[in-house]
Amino acid sequence: MKVGIYPGSFDPVTKGHLDIIERSSKMVDRLIVAVLNNNAKSPLFSVKERVNMLKEVTKEIDNVVIDSFSGLLVDYAEKNHANIIVRGLRAVTDFEYELQMAQTNRIMDNNVDTIFLTTSLQYAYLSSSIVKEVAINNGDVSKFVPEYVVEQIQKKLNIS
Ligand code: PNS
Repeated sequence: MKVGIYPGSFDPVTKGHLDIIERSSKMVDRLIVAVLNNNAKSPLFSVKERVNMLKEVTKEIDNVVIDSFSGLLVDYAEKNHANIIVRGLRAVTDFEYELQMAQTNRIMDNNVDTIFLTTSLQYAYLSSSIVKEVAINNGDVSKFVPEYVVEQIQKKLNIS
């Protein structure tokens, strides 16, 4: 069984993430979307809220499971018998950081390979940070995130 992991912060999940989830889920038997539980960052949504949003927006995709992890990604991958890490590449600016992570992970565990999917063009500009900035300044984020996430952002920021 081919198990892939799509790790990230997903604070919150965007249509760009969803596009990567839909496409990569077709390449593996089981795709684990894993939310990093990282105390160092100060997120808008808790890990539990992010996991719930991911569950809601991926509920139609049978082979996708949502989870969270802390510690090293390669350790989490090994525990879950996954040897494929999926990441999306939006632009050349992502490349250096992604290459560094992929190479570090592979040196730590050479059973793990990272595959990169280029983000669909209509989402190439998108990031969770930009979505948060637009939302905090009362902008409409419905083009950037699924409807359910729009509602959760509005709740969180007390916007009606
Ligand atoms: O969505 P993000 O914030 O760009 O995702 C980054 C993530 C979660 C993939 C990365 O920070 C990660 O894998 N963290 C876990 C710790 C780890 O394994 N670090 C070593 C790899 S460089």
